Amino acid sequence: MLPPLKIGTKEIAIPIIQGGMAVKISTAPLAAEVANQGGVGVIGASGMGEEELRQEIREAKSLSNGLIGVNIMVAITQFKNLLRVAFEEKVDFVLAGAGFSRDLFLMAKDTGVEVLPIVSSVKAAQISEKMGAKAVVLESGEAGGHLGTDKPLFFILSQVVKALKIPVIAAGGILHPEDIKKAFREGAQGVQIGTFFAASAESNSHQNWKDYYLQAKPEDVVLIESPAGLPGRAIRNTLIEKVISKGKRYKPKIVKTCQKCLKNCKRNFCILDALILAQRGDVENGLIFSGKRVGEIKEILTVKEIFKKLLSGPEGC
Ligand SMILES: Cc1cc2nc3c(=O)[nH]c(=O)nc-3n(C[C@H](O)[C@H](O)[C@H](O)COP(=O)(O)O)c2cc1C
Repeated sequence: MLPPLKIGTKEIAIPIIQGGMAVKISTAPLAAEVANQGGVGVIGASGMGEEELRQEIREAKSLSNGLIGVNIMVAITQFKNLLRVAFEEKVDFVLAGAGFSRDLFLMAKDTGVEVLPIVSSVKAAQISEKMGAKAVVLESGEAGGHLGTDKPLFFILSQVVKALKIPVIAAGGILHPEDIKKAFREGAQGVQIGTFFAASAESNSHQNWKDYYLQAKPEDVVLIESPAGLPGRAIRNTLIEKVISKGKRYKPKIVKTCQKCLKNCKRNFCILDALILAQRGDVENGLIFSGKRVGEIKEILTVKEIFKKLLSGPEGC
């Protein structure tokens, strides 16, 4: 059994955090079920409107009395507006990655919401601790989505643990009980898992997306240059072939009107449209973010089954 993790005023019974996943992959049903299992369920807010996020939080809270978080990318123009909604709706945690925000800590003061910065280096982890974070999520190069490092988890984890006094939650390539055990041996006090939950029955990803995950081989998982100015890990498909071959000039047909979703967009393709297309089931023209180890997922499981798999059996934690 994993020891519970106290972060500020919140106690996580089973220190498994479901990674926030945009656009609309981790919504209320997934977050609520993770919270019901004793972990932290996280709504991926990036790409949602303010009222949409408010409704998702309310739905998650109506489905669970457990711990609910909201993940918002610092790189998006809506960052502060969505943050305000998360505070107004009194979620338990706000997680913020794809950039660093000092304002986040100021805005969170006296709200009762705990801030969990998502970092990928010792330096960013130390700044977070100085700014008042009660824990950090350390996301490594194996993770899905936008990446802040190419370093493997078990290369950077012990360095970050040694440099901090606050708990470190390990993210990137966690799929099996032995991965969790190893992370705890290296000093982590919790884990954040994305891809495995994106493939769960409760995930808001389309069935085509889930099938694509099940068929993916290790060599299908590639890094692309995201319009957000960071590397992004995704599964190779028609969109990615075009983005790679046409470079900055590729404009997919699906681009309707630019919603100026990113503070600084590289404009090599429209990431908002591409993520929405994938979430709706167009697995060839959409962007399917995925962790490096997606090939190890062999079946679609419910969240309850995922928790059971991660926590029990001879290798269980
Ligand atoms: C489909 C998908 C979407 C993601 N979206 C976000 C996001 O919106 N914000 C964020 O901070 N991280 C995002 N991530 C990263 C996850 O929250 C998590 O940290 C990461 O997936 C952990 O690695 P794993 O997939 O190997 O478990 C995303 C990951 C995936 C697979």
